[in-house]
Amino acid sequence: MTGKTAKAIFWLGTLSSAIIFLWLTYDFHQQEPKFVKTDKLNEQVVAGKKVWHKHNCNDCHTILGFGGYYAPDMTKAYYRLGESAIISVVMNPEQAYKDTFRKMPHLGVTKDEAVNMAAFLKWVASIDNRTWPPQDEKFVKAFQLREANAQKPDSKDIAMGACGGCHSLGDLGNKLSGDFNDISQRISYDRDTLVKFIHAPQSVRQGIAMPPQNISSETAAIIADFLLSLKAEKEVQK
Ligand code: HEC
Ligand code: HEC
Repeated sequence: MTGKTAKAIFWLGTLSSAIIFLWLTYDFHQQEPKFVKTDKLNEQVVAGKKVWHKHNCNDCHTILGFGGYYAPDMTKAYYRLGESAIISVVMNPEQAYKDTFRKMPHLGVTKDEAVNMAAFLKWVASIDNRTWPPQDEKFVKAFQLREANAQKPDSKDIAMGACGGCHSLGDLGNKLSGDFNDISQRISYDRDTLVKFIHAPQSVRQGIAMPPQNISSETAAIIADFLLSLKAEKEVQK
């Protein structure tokens, strides 16, 4: 190899590596807000991080791979424990772990510090870090499932939201035009007829005083299933 070729390889290698490195750095900063949820970084989270440093929690614990491996990984601890368990462990580790072999020392963390710590760990847990650490993935999934279900109204809420102005269900709704528990016993409509009835009561039962309900077919079907399930429940109880 001549000196000229060696130089050419050197410059080509150095420049192409530098370009790739700079591009990756640029790309990282572009993507960062999305993965790191920088919009959720509030004062409480910052205060919690300072508590983490003040007590040297990462002597024993790890966040995002950084810290000691003596104690459990804290990256997804929020999903594993939840806010109140974090606060009680951090304030009273000697009680939480009185029967275990591994020990966490009592560090004198105050209530305010523990609350901020929980906010910090919540933010850390929300970082999209491609399922690290893998052993906590099941807790993350379970937490997300609980959140999704908590936000989804169940069919009872949908039915009473749409029909509760005139019908009741036990203590819910208004007792103007009959309780769904009784109505579901009385009617013998199948699902399709019930959906049709909701949209146009008079076309199913002439002369009935219920006005047509202006709701989507999907909502009407959910409500029809709900009414029929009340009937089924009563039949089982008999
Ligand atoms: C000297 C080491 C050490 C230090 C420092 C330490 N911990 Fe711990 N921590 C532990 C050990 C060990 C456990 C687990 C005990 C067990 O499982 O028996 C633990 C458990 C926990 C848990 C419960 C984890 C789980 O999954 O059940 C939380 C939360 C926690 N520590 C938070 C903190 C915080 C916050 C700090 C800093 C204020 C801190 N720890 C400082 C050793 C430590
Ligand atoms: C504006 C008041 C009003 C609203 C809102 C209303 N209903 Fe009715 N509904 C009535 C009246 C009035 C009757 C007739 C009661 C009777 O004859 O005893 C009735 C009767 C019924 C019956 C019994 C039908 C039968 O053949 O006996 C069903 C089923 C029913 N409603 C379902 C619904 C559903 C489902 C909704 C919501 C999508 C709803 N209603 C909303 C007023 C209303």
